[in-house]
Amino acid sequence: MTSLTTPAEEDQATKGATLAKKYYDSDDAQKFYSMIWGEETLHIGRYDMLTEQDKNTLSVHQQISKAQEYHEQEFIRHIQSKFSYENITSNPPEDVVTVTCLDMGCGYGGLLRRLVQAGAIQKATGCDISQKMCQQARRLNQEQHCADKIEIVEESYLAVPSVADGSCNLVISMDALLHVGPNGQATAMQEAARVLQPGGWMIFSDIMQQEIVDPDEMKPIYDRIHLSKMGTVSNYKQAMEAAGFDNFDFLPNASTNVSAHYGSVCTVLEEKGDELGISDEYQQKMKAGLITWRDLGEKNIVWGFVVAQKKQ
Ligand SMILES: C[S@@+](CC[C@H](N)C(=O)[O-])C[C@H]1O[C@@H](n2cnc3c(N)ncnc32)[C@H](O)[C@@H]1O
Repeated sequence: MTSLTTPAEEDQATKGATLAKKYYDSDDAQKFYSMIWGEETLHIGRYDMLTEQDKNTLSVHQQISKAQEYHEQEFIRHIQSKFSYENITSNPPEDVVTVTCLDMGCGYGGLLRRLVQAGAIQKATGCDISQKMCQQARRLNQEQHCADKIEIVEESYLAVPSVADGSCNLVISMDALLHVGPNGQATAMQEAARVLQPGGWMIFSDIMQQEIVDPDEMKPIYDRIHLSKMGTVSNYKQAMEAAGFDNFDFLPNASTNVSAHYGSVCTVLEEKGDELGISDEYQQKMKAGLITWRDLGEKNIVWGFVVAQKKQ
């Protein structure tokens, strides 16, 4: 397959991956992510799905977890809709399809455990570039008796040599592909196509930019993630079609949740940062970043699920 990227662009994607590793591997980042953002999962939540009861009874911190849980439930529904069984149980009958999955940028592995526990997948590999994410994911897999079904590999999703060609029928990712920008994302789509069997599905959520943005207005966001642009829905469609996917879909447009999420995380960081022992310098930097995303997100950022099928 011909590469869509030039050597300079590939270099930028690799640099993005290296910076993401450094970013997630620091002690402060681990405290912040595991104790504020999510003990098991680190993604945007569906605040638009919070019920009145959720809003009235849960603290802001608890609302973050609840909103994330709603997003994961949506994820499971998308997977269920693509495989030939309707009622997922923890003991699927023998005639159902066995789902073998790769999670690109699995973080603490929370989604994979949820999918295994729901019987929605039977075997999985989670890859993450951060050593600390992988260590914690393995620990939680052991604790929750999932280690025999989920292998965690410390590898970049730009190249996952541990996963053989055509060995999966599902590739997933949750808010992890943004880190490498559109050129790296095209490489990740080729890697997803490599590991998928014909007819297999790629289903992921990601944080993208609107098709048309003012680069000056986006600069504070680009600076924070060390990119000169972010991916868009149309970038993904083009990259996935070039990598051998069809039946592309983007759904639903749940972008308003991005501002709600960063605003909520910022509130909890302000409440708990000191008591959790997160350094003052990290807190100040993180708060500035969260406020940037909160305030610019509504107008400029797109978030939702991308779904596509590897051609038969
Ligand atoms: C926002 S977190 C999401 C983690 C997980 N998907 C979840 O929802 O809980 C982004 C994750 O992507 C990982 N990541 C970033 N760049 C990566 C790369 N090139 N290859 C593998 N993982 C990467 C980070 O280490 C981090 O764990």
